[in-house]
Amino acid sequence: MRTTKTLGIAAAVGAAALMLTACSGGTAPASSGEPAAAGGGTLQLALNQTEEHPSYIALTSFGERLSEATDGRWSIDVFANETLGAQQETIQLVQDGTIDLSIVSGTQLENLNPDFGVLNLPTAFTTIESQLDVVHDDEIVGDLFASLEESNNISVVGGLTQGTRSVYTSFGPIETPADMAGKKLRVQESELHIAMAEALGGAATPMAFGELYTALQSGVVDAAENNAISYVTQRHFEVAPFWSNTNHLVGIDYMIADSAMLDGMSEEDRAAFDAEWDATYQEHADLWVTQTEEAIATAEAGGATFTDVDTAAFDEAIAPLIERFIQTDEQQALWDAVRAAQADA
Ligand code: GCU
Repeated sequence: MRTTKTLGIAAAVGAAALMLTACSGGTAPASSGEPAAAGGGTLQLALNQTEEHPSYIALTSFGERLSEATDGRWSIDVFANETLGAQQETIQLVQDGTIDLSIVSGTQLENLNPDFGVLNLPTAFTTIESQLDVVHDDEIVGDLFASLEESNNISVVGGLTQGTRSVYTSFGPIETPADMAGKKLRVQESELHIAMAEALGGAATPMAFGELYTALQSGVVDAAENNAISYVTQRHFEVAPFWSNTNHLVGIDYMIADSAMLDGMSEEDRAAFDAEWDATYQEHADLWVTQTEEAIATAEAGGATFTDVDTAAFDEAIAPLIERFIQTDEQQALWDAVRAAQADA
């Protein structure tokens, strides 16, 4: 029996009420010592991954280093397994200052500002390294990342890679999009990814991440797409053991923050926060490489098979998405900058 949602949203709201006394704006000390001189507190960070996932590991050590660098003024509690809610719910909690931080997929931000969709397109990113360079390059993404501050009280701190995503199914390996005909393919809740599922040949079924194991197990969906690490940490390989290397996307997660909380940090503490973040996304990328290899081995040992696909057939099916989802001059300029920055990658 899986217990992904151990609290549920009702309990999360109760927990969030408690948190109000312990976070957001730095009224409480990070530990039970002296009150912080220049503001501080224990930041509540929502995550929808397990405690084995690189994001949990890297973010936990982010909190430890932040605490050290700020003499204990700021620390972080990472709530794994969607205990504070699914990503869409946590965006709302960050927005109203109930929690401080959340890791959300790029697809979720597309719903607040469609321009984020440019970075959610297949072929936006060539490699994990070039992706991380782009999403930490102010010249390219500075305006985009600042776009939610005034309207939504959300600051985008930076990105954690989701690595390369491929399709996996409960019914057998696929070689071309035609093999997905009539099959229900779970995707994230995004217009673009719904269109992507259709391009991949399936019938799109958007749903939250935490619901997916049961949906695959019960046949509500026949397939999903993700990276090998989530495939294993979520145990999806148990119920959808046929992985096909479509490699259709290098995905991106963002760390979003309550803008008012960040604005309330002293200059010194904010500099420490930013410096430790830089170390965090890099540590995460290193963990990504080793854990991907381990995940594939674990899935294979558990009976999953990994097969290659007709890559040209998938490339051809996906290509029209670029033109369809780049609709404004701003989006075109962003796309051009993202691609130009990776010309040599
Ligand atoms: C990845 C990603 C998550 C996302 C998930 C999904 O695991 O890191 O942020 O929620 O995919 O497919 O929903």
